[in-house]
Amino acid sequence: MRIFKKNEDVRGFRKNDPQKLLSDKSPFLIKETYNSIRTKIMFSGKGEKCPVFAVTSSMPNDGKTINCINIAISFAMTGKKILLIDGDMRNPTIYRYFGIHYKNGFSESLAGLQEEICIKHSKVENLDLVTSGEVPPNPAELLGAERLKVLLASLREKYDYIFIDTPPVEVVTDASVIANQVTGFIFVTQAGKSDMGSAVHSVELLRQLGAGIVGVILNDCNGKTQGYSKQYGAYKKNGYYQYRSQQVQHSAETDEQFWQQSAGKKSV
Ligand SMILES: Nc1ncnc2c1ncn2[C@@H]1O[C@H](COP(=O)(O)OP(=O)(O)OP(=O)(O)O)[C@@H](O)[C@H]1O
Ligand SMILES: [Mg+2]
Repeated sequence: MRIFKKNEDVRGFRKNDPQKLLSDKSPFLIKETYNSIRTKIMFSGKGEKCPVFAVTSSMPNDGKTINCINIAISFAMTGKKILLIDGDMRNPTIYRYFGIHYKNGFSESLAGLQEEICIKHSKVENLDLVTSGEVPPNPAELLGAERLKVLLASLREKYDYIFIDTPPVEVVTDASVIANQVTGFIFVTQAGKSDMGSAVHSVELLRQLGAGIVGVILNDCNGKTQGYSKQYGAYKKNGYYQYRSQQVQHSAETDEQFWQQSAGKKSV
C-alpha cells in the first residue's frame, strides 16, 4: 500500500502535514483503526449529553495531537457535531494541521479576555476548532480556574462530543488539573519508545485524581510488533515519514490487563 505519491519530495514533507489527517481517502487500515477506536470511545460516554475526552500521554512526542485530531475527525464523519480544543497552550500544534492561526482561542477565553469563546470552523464537515490562543504565562492556573467549568458547560449545549488535546502528564500538570472536568482520558503510548514506568505512573496519577482512562492507544506500532502490513516497515527503512498504525486497548478489563502485563516491562 503506497501512502504518499511516488515522486513526492519526502525530505520536504512537513512535520504537521495535513495529509496525516484522517479522510475518506486515507488507507483502509487507518480508517478501520480509527473506526474501531471511535466505537470503543462512544461506549465510554457514561450517558452524558456531550462527553468531554482529553487526550494525553506521559512524555512529549508520543502522538497525542495527531491522534486527538484524527479521533475528532472520525467522530465528525458520523455526522455528530464535534468540537476540538487545543488545550496544549504551551506547545500548540493543532492550528498547523488546519492551516489557521492559533491566536484568539482557548487561553484568551480562559483568561476572560474574550466574552465569547472564538470557535473556528474547520475544513472538515461537523468539526469546529478552538485554537490554543496566545501562549499564556500560567496555563495550569488558567485550566484550574472556575471559568473552564462554565465554558465547558456552555459548549456542551452546542456539541455532541468535545475532545481536548493536552500536554504530557510527566512534564507539566495541565492534564491532571482538568481531570475532574472531563468524562475521561484517552492515553497515548508510543510503541517501542514510551517508558513503561512513566506511563504507569501517569495513569495512576490520573486515576488518583478521579479521572477515568477510557482507552489506551498504542501509537506507531510497526509491522513486526503488530503483524501489520510490511509496506509500513518499508517506509520506515527508507527513513520516510510513514502513516503509522494505532491500536487501542479499551475496556476496563483490557485496560487493567494491559497495565498489569506492562508493569514489568521497560518500554511498550
Ligand atoms: N501514527 C503517526 N503517524 C504519522 N505521524 C505521526 C504519528 N504519530 C506521531 N506522528 C508525528 O510525530 C510528531 C509528534 O506527534 P504529535 O505532535 O502528535 O505528538 P505529541 O504527543 O502531541 O507531542 P507533544 O508532546 O510535543 O505535544 C508529529 O509530527 C506527528 O505528525
Ligand atoms: Mg501535542
